Amino acid sequence: MKTILLFLYFLACLALCNSNGIVIPPSNENINYVGRVDKSNSLQYAFAWSSVQISILISNTTSFAPVFGSYGQNYFNVFIDNTMFVLNASSPIPHPYFISENLNLDPTQTYNITLVKRTEAWVGISSFYGIIVDSGATLFSYPKTTSRSIEFIGDSITCGFGILGVPPCGPFDPSLEDISLTYGGLISKELEAQLYVEAWSGKGVLKNSGSTIIPSNQTLPELYPLTIPTESTDYWNFEDFSPDAIVINLGTNDYNSQPIPSKHYFESSYIDFIKFIKSKYANNPSFFLVCGPMIGDPCCEYVQNVADAVGAVYIDMQNILEPNEYGCNSHPNVAGHAKMASIALPIIQKNLAW
Ligand SMILES: *[C@@H]1O[C@H](CO)[C@@H](O)[C@H](O)[C@H]1NC(C)=O
Ligand SMILES: *[C@@H]1O[C@H](CO)[C@@H](O)[C@H](O)[C@H]1NC(C)=O
Ligand SMILES: *[C@@H]1O[C@H](CO)[C@@H](O)[C@H](O)[C@H]1NC(C)=O
Ligand SMILES: *[C@@H]1O[C@H](CO)[C@@H](O)[C@H](O)[C@H]1NC(C)=O
Repeated sequence: MKTILLFLYFLACLALCNSNGIVIPPSNENINYVGRVDKSNSLQYAFAWSSVQISILISNTTSFAPVFGSYGQNYFNVFIDNTMFVLNASSPIPHPYFISENLNLDPTQTYNITLVKRTEAWVGISSFYGIIVDSGATLFSYPKTTSRSIEFIGDSITCGFGILGVPPCGPFDPSLEDISLTYGGLISKELEAQLYVEAWSGKGVLKNSGSTIIPSNQTLPELYPLTIPTESTDYWNFEDFSPDAIVINLGTNDYNSQPIPSKHYFESSYIDFIKFIKSKYANNPSFFLVCGPMIGDPCCEYVQNVADAVGAVYIDMQNILEPNEYGCNSHPNVAGHAKMASIALPIIQKNLAW
């Protein structure tokens, strides 16, 4: 399978790389990654969680084409210095996406090019095969701009499900999801912190949306330890990253339909999940537990109890959205997420003294 994919990839490069093109492999030491990436195959890095970020500092090239294969309709935000493009990386076979065609990269300039996976994990795995650039391109070692880091864990709210949609929306459309505009994206940008996200629409602590079984299969705490959450054996190495702060927004799907978990079962399971996360990080990160804006009591009362029990800061977001702050299916839109960020940001800043 791998051999076939690589063969197709080189065929694509023969057809599409310009005559002076070269491929920078994903394992090049000047490529910077943020987020959970499976690097076990040096020719094909794989990832799925939202917000995985690939960055490079490059000069002396007029073209730039990341090569992706996708097991679903995945979108990326491409930041070239201060300009943003949206990349529709939906080809199942490795495909070079030339984003410089209308851009005329100036070979005498150095560019910071950053790709961010907008879409959530269940949309599909992205395989990154490298970047095609001009053969004389110069790569620079990517500077560390921040020592701060923050991790967001949650469901559709954290993913930015339907954030770009105007209600009433049709069936789920991955192009309406954009992690950069979510409260996590906005807060990490404002704090200049690295962002890690493990979120999946419909997931709960004990019960997933629409499930009649408690506990449901594959709740968020079950998927959380995985690098690629659809690969049940691909465990993340927690030594690779230690966040300063962890923001969790779970519970909405546990309580938005019958049957609902009991107070004790929910609280003790949520506490166990936080204990598990704490056991993975030696640096004693600060925890923030959000409830809302798509659920209220009793869920939020229980989340507050959990926060008290584990020494976390509770952030209440019940009933905060105005009518014009909804995207698809009662989810916060861009303005709704901006409001969430405006509530959480000062609390996080104060607590971390940032
Ligand atoms: C993205 O690409 C896929 C596959 O080619 C296509 O089905 C989809 O409509 C595209 N999305 C947009 C927003 O153009
Ligand atoms: C490169 O751009 C990204 C996205 O705008 C930004 O987060 C990052 O801090 C920039 N890095 C450098 C080294 O300028
Ligand atoms: C820039 O690239 C061209 C070929 O694309 C190469 O001949 C030249 O040496 C490169 N310049 C530098 C400064 O690397
Ligand atoms: C949950 O997992 C069990 C064991 O793997 C399986 O038998 C069952 O069908 C699953 N239930 C659902 C609703 O997927």
